[in-house]
Amino acid sequence: MTYVVTEACIKCKYMDCVEVCPVDCFYVGENMLVINPDECIDCGVCEPECPAEAIVPDTDPAAGPWMGLNREYSAKWPNITRKGTPPADADAWNGVPDKFAQHFSPEPGEEKP
Ligand code: SF4
Ligand code: F3S
Repeated sequence: MTYVVTEACIKCKYMDCVEVCPVDCFYVGENMLVINPDECIDCGVCEPECPAEAIVPDTDPAAGPWMGLNREYSAKWPNITRKGTPPADADAWNGVPDKFAQHFSPEPGEEKP
């Protein structure tokens, strides 16, 4: 089992999740994060930390479309362990539906101080 970041993270990227993960298994893209499913120990502490409610267990039907995305991009993007500054308009994107089709970026992000 693992936890999965869904499209609700896109353009919100609050990064509260990375601060609590005991095994540092978050990876950063230009405008969202993903979880490495092989490293996640299924502790669940990140789920309630996300203001966008973007993190779900893989047993949740909402995880289905995003499991492959987390696996693929956690192998391509850099690791992130510290919360940086969220996008200035993060709150405006919180709850907006269908962000993947319009706004997903495959570009890697970076960990910022
Ligand atoms: Fe990290 Fe636990 Fe969240 Fe998995 S469930 S990503 S181990 S905080
Ligand atoms: Fe994304 Fe939520 Fe983490 S918006 S960066 S999954 S706190």
